[in-house]
Amino acid sequence: NPLPFRRPAPEAERADLPLSAYPRVRLRRPRASDWSRRLVAENVLTVDDLIWPVFVHEGDDVIDVPSMPGVRRHSVDSLVDAVGEAGELGVPLIAIFPAVDAERKNDEGTEATNPDNVVCRAVRAVKQHVPDVGVLCDAALDPFTSHGHDGLIRDGYVQNDITLEVLIRQALIQVEAGCDIIAPSDMMDGRVGAIREALEAHGHHNVQIMSYAAKYASAFYGPFRDAIGSKANLGKATKATYQMNPANGDEAMREVAMDIAEGADMVMVKPGMPYLDLCRRVKDAFHLPTFAYQVSGEYAMLNAAADNGWLDREKVMMESLLSFKRAGCDGVLTYFAVEAAKRIRAGD
Ligand code: PBG
Repeated sequence: NPLPFRRPAPEAERADLPLSAYPRVRLRRPRASDWSRRLVAENVLTVDDLIWPVFVHEGDDVIDVPSMPGVRRHSVDSLVDAVGEAGELGVPLIAIFPAVDAERKNDEGTEATNPDNVVCRAVRAVKQHVPDVGVLCDAALDPFTSHGHDGLIRDGYVQNDITLEVLIRQALIQVEAGCDIIAPSDMMDGRVGAIREALEAHGHHNVQIMSYAAKYASAFYGPFRDAIGSKANLGKATKATYQMNPANGDEAMREVAMDIAEGADMVMVKPGMPYLDLCRRVKDAFHLPTFAYQVSGEYAMLNAAADNGWLDREKVMMESLLSFKRAGCDGVLTYFAVEAAKRIRAGD
């Protein structure tokens, strides 16, 4: 008579081993059935872990970003619709990035502090129509400068302290437009403290700062620079005088410590997958909300392989996102956010 229940019997044949050679500890036991694998899973990716970076430009058209299949430069109107859909799925936060018309860019990035620039207009529209989704904006000048750098240049060097003055004004106009979280992504020293002080002085004490604390001078940002149209501006120039050297880990810990001391509420490691070691170190050392940015080049890389039939797109999407949770992250900025949310909602 067959038993009334099924238990996996992985070994169909009894091996003829000395008793001491049979494993007592069998790590495969809990892996033998789906319910058991789910029961002992240490990490889970939920929709609440997803932050969706989006691009907006001045025009009415919606333009595909060739190096980021599935990613678009939205008009303000189409952005509102897209964020509405993300909100319905439960995505808690979006990050808005502008693609600024070339004629509005100049060496000083003055458009960054125009309260009617495309970022501020997009923030106002999103907060008006989709008020329950959080909005994050970068503080950095690169979408607005004709040279594509994140700060002001004098004598061929990206200046720290005069850039802080502009970042403060940029942060304030974005907050006044309705932005909930300021994310300084410029890597100037002292920017978190300078922005925090300005926010307090203007009564914005509940605006959070998520600092790009450990942000590396990475080649993985290439497709993003296509998306915001800063690639040609930057040319062959390097951001290595302000973004971090990929060789360094201890220095990232100092960056994070500094930003926390200056008033950051949460910190980010960027890029993501090549820097998971830092996610773990930061979380273990500082115990504060820690995020990773799975950047444009990571997205492009996975998609390119999937488009060639070399990887299963959905599987590598979910596996890569789960890896951030395992590394200690509380959430992840990812261009896959909406797709991953749909998949999670569908229950697989
Ligand atoms: C702006 C900024 C960059 C990214 C986010 N904010 C580019 C850069 O620093 O050159 C990159 C995001 C991505 O690659 O997805 N400072």
